[in-house]
Amino acid sequence: MNELSGKLSAIEAEASASLPSVKSAEDLKVFKAKYLGRNGLVTDLLKMLGSLPAADKPDAGKQINQLKEKLLSKIGETESKLQSLSLDEALKTGVDITLPGRVFSEPGRLHPITQIMQKVQEIFMGLGFSVYEGSEIETDYYNFQALNMPPDHPARDMQDTFYVCQTSDVRRQTSEELLLRTHTSPVQIHVMKKFKPPLRMIVPGAVYRRDADVTHSPMFHQVEGLMVGDGITMGDLKGVLTEFLHQMFGAKTNVRFRPSFFPFTEPSAEVDIQCVICAGKKTLADGSPCRVCKQTGWMEILGSGMVNPKVFENVGLDPAKTKGFAFGLGIERVAMLKFGISDIRLFFENDLRFLGQF
Ligand code: PHE
Repeated sequence: MNELSGKLSAIEAEASASLPSVKSAEDLKVFKAKYLGRNGLVTDLLKMLGSLPAADKPDAGKQINQLKEKLLSKIGETESKLQSLSLDEALKTGVDITLPGRVFSEPGRLHPITQIMQKVQEIFMGLGFSVYEGSEIETDYYNFQALNMPPDHPARDMQDTFYVCQTSDVRRQTSEELLLRTHTSPVQIHVMKKFKPPLRMIVPGAVYRRDADVTHSPMFHQVEGLMVGDGITMGDLKGVLTEFLHQMFGAKTNVRFRPSFFPFTEPSAEVDIQCVICAGKKTLADGSPCRVCKQTGWMEILGSGMVNPKVFENVGLDPAKTKGFAFGLGIERVAMLKFGISDIRLFFENDLRFLGQF
């Protein structure tokens, strides 16, 4: 028995002495194997337990197991010490605390078209215009006839217009075509029938045309403008639209008015701004041709004109007394120019990688 006690204390002393040199998980494995492994020193003692006289067995077994427990608890302690050390090490060298944290959810934001729409409204409200909304489903009369577009006008072509259905009024024995408005101009008629001049209105909203390519979408947005009152002139049209474009694109942006034609305005003008991509230079900084303005240095941005006397007649106003101007602005076009986007379809695909950039 004394022999066993001597062996046990020798093993214990040796284990305690070598423990400080255990510096890694690998070292610990070797340490554990040396004492408690299949052929380990303590295991060997347990194996020879069988050859002891029966009277000595219980006490010997108890002593050996006590040493085994002691060693196991030391191994456990060392293991957790090693783990926290390696974490400290990793924090010192392996973790870059200057990296931004991971964002798991982002707040929503306004669609770029909504942002531009709101900006346009803000500018015109600052100029004293009020905001009015119409209906996206219109009758042929409001969308075309009242705006001086007779039944054979090319803009009414099946190619351009989405027709919805025929409504019929049995009592009056009339039937009328319903369609998705192709522009916001029918709201001019509603406004002038409902309110007396002077008027200063803008009408934001969706419009529909049978058209689809990189610069045309079957649904897009316009802002219609209408200013009606005594003595309104083309000078007012130019002043208001120039001020709007300067606020929208910057005070230094050059603006030009070109003669044009719309059935509901006379005279009519298309409004261009200097190309925002090449700054009117027609070529880019690297000398390549500017494709956005097709090397003209200008980009068309608005349709406008003085309200046609026939339109005033259609709403019961006297064209000899009442004057006014109207304009129509394509919102997607403004957004494409302002954000430098070349494909209109990106606005409607709802790809978060695109929308997240605004
Ligand atoms: N309604 C025209 C269009 O959609 C734009 C316009 C509006 C032109 C008002 C002149 C006056 O093309």
